Amino acid sequence: MDENTVAVGKDIDLETVILQNVDLVENIGAFKEVAEQFQQLMMMYSCAIREVRTKLEVLNDEFQVQRSHNPISYIKYRVKKPGSILEKLKRRGYPVTLQSVEENLHDVAGIRVICSYVQDIYMVADMLTSQNDITLLEVKDYIANPKPNGYRSLHLVVQIPVFFSDGCKLLKVEVQIRTIAMDFWASLEHQLKYKTEGDVPDSIAAELKDCSDVIANTDQRMQNIYNTLKKDRPEKEN
Ligand code: GTP
Ligand code: MG
Repeated sequence: MDENTVAVGKDIDLETVILQNVDLVENIGAFKEVAEQFQQLMMMYSCAIREVRTKLEVLNDEFQVQRSHNPISYIKYRVKKPGSILEKLKRRGYPVTLQSVEENLHDVAGIRVICSYVQDIYMVADMLTSQNDITLLEVKDYIANPKPNGYRSLHLVVQIPVFFSDGCKLLKVEVQIRTIAMDFWASLEHQLKYKTEGDVPDSIAAELKDCSDVIANTDQRMQNIYNTLKKDRPEKEN
């Protein structure tokens, strides 16, 4: 070992290190406490997702048995990553505290429901939000009013009570409901935006908007086909 090599492990005098870094050691204690509280809040959001998912799965199962139709193709979900939570609080100028996360962010818990047909989207939204324990806080209908870039989806923010050992907690969950076709467009558009760091050339943006319109038209035609077949063979639905 040459003289420039720093000895690690057994040769370090811990007392000296701690005394020289008292502030740091105290900060680590505070950090640990905040980290534990943060972890607990994320666990709660994850449970809120589970509650809403169960409600959606129950509705889907019931429809399958009663009407031989699954309005929901599949469900994706996620709890927002700590880095994204921090970034969003800062970007929007909100305090960086746990209370602020609960008050100001409504998409920490996110569920994406992918439906077969456009009418299924509104049916699922109505059946979910009419349940007694669900409070509807916000609706953004980007299907009736698509974003200028062509994004289509129905966004709901709901609040749901979740029961823990020491009581009930009201938690917000963002539910995005869209068709398979809308999801296909949104996923690829998101990837392309990410690839170009949000700087999509005008000609490409127009092309993407056009693809979205074609997709919306196809969704409508598929809905018409479904409705026509259902009218001709109503016995299949009962
Ligand atoms: P952010 O959550 O910061 O985006 O703001 P917001 O909550 O006001 O936005 P909004 O409800 O309009 O959208 C929230 C989410 O919808 C985003 O996080 C995306 O998942 C999705 N979204 C919205 N606009 C677009 C879009 O143009 N393209 C794609 N691919 N997804 C979108
Ligand atoms: Mg959002």
